[in-house]
Amino acid sequence: MGPSRTRKHVIRFQAEWLELARKYSWSKNNRDLLYKFIDLRPNHIIVDVGCGTGALTRVLAEKIDRNIGGRIVGIDKDRELLRSAVAITKKAGLNDVVSFRLANATKAIPLPDNYSDRVVSQAFLRWLAPEELKRSMEEMIRICKRGGLVVACERSIDTSILYYPLNNRLTKLSRKMGLAQILGYEKLYGYDKNIGYKIPSLFRKLGLTRIRLDGFSYGRVACDDRIPDEYKMDMIRYDSQKTEEFIKRLERAPDTKKRIQIARKSYLPLLKGGMTLKEIIELSKGQLSHHQKILRNPEQISEDTSVDVGVLFVTTGLKV
Ligand SMILES: C[S@@+](CC[C@H](N)C(=O)[O-])C[C@H]1O[C@@H](n2cnc3c(N)ncnc32)[C@H](O)[C@@H]1O
Repeated sequence: MGPSRTRKHVIRFQAEWLELARKYSWSKNNRDLLYKFIDLRPNHIIVDVGCGTGALTRVLAEKIDRNIGGRIVGIDKDRELLRSAVAITKKAGLNDVVSFRLANATKAIPLPDNYSDRVVSQAFLRWLAPEELKRSMEEMIRICKRGGLVVACERSIDTSILYYPLNNRLTKLSRKMGLAQILGYEKLYGYDKNIGYKIPSLFRKLGLTRIRLDGFSYGRVACDDRIPDEYKMDMIRYDSQKTEEFIKRLERAPDTKKRIQIARKSYLPLLKGGMTLKEIIELSKGQLSHHQKILRNPEQISEDTSVDVGVLFVTTGLKV
């Protein structure tokens, strides 16, 4: 569906959720691979576009040395998220290297042409309609120095898996949810939820050269013993609370019409993408009961071999 038929979508991300979701998304191993992959140097000037609370900004800032000219600027259009980004970055002791600026990257990034050695973004481009996407990418290329790299870190829902080894139905519904998200977001807003593996062709079209793509594992990986149980429990608690609130709201609704209204508020893309209200409720209740079992017996967390993992595609393109 073309952009003219899509509606304007204003999505707000919760700082609390972003921080929780990102806490273990860049493992030590993946960080080291990333630094190498983008050939990061301590004297680099970097811009992180759509930085949110600054999760990737800080991963990169760890390698930057202000004394030899390195610095990093995070750009976001959400004032609240930037407020959190400033506070968290200060707490992490990285505020001498990092600064944040409020700006809408689909309009203009308030930085000069050829400003930085690396222009990066993570989980940003998949929230843009085609015209906004093109405009933001052009802006990212404009502020990148000749000889510098533009870097996009994006998932593709196609390559994400939710797997519950003891519950086939839940696995099946989760797969349906993935497909519905792809279709629904596209239909409603023109977003491409599979953009991760399409970035190379977009970069090429916009004139970047020496394109490289690599896949990094990304997810919560309940089954992975390297992730602390405490963190897994925090995620489960957060998810359960949100799902429980949703189910309670539905249960209080007097009739189906009202229930559909409530579901549309939280899950419109899923409904537009072909999931029924019944399936959404079944999936929510299934996930909730999976989580509640663990919350009741926290020692079971180490027995949980469910998987929520995907590929984070990192693409780099050289500006010549
Ligand atoms: C999913 S969040 C990702 C945040 C961060 N990069 C991360 O990975 O944690 C998407 C971010 O893009 C920001 N964003 C969306 N549209 C934007 C725009 N036009 N200009 C600047 N930031 C934008 C949102 O405010 C949000 O912080």
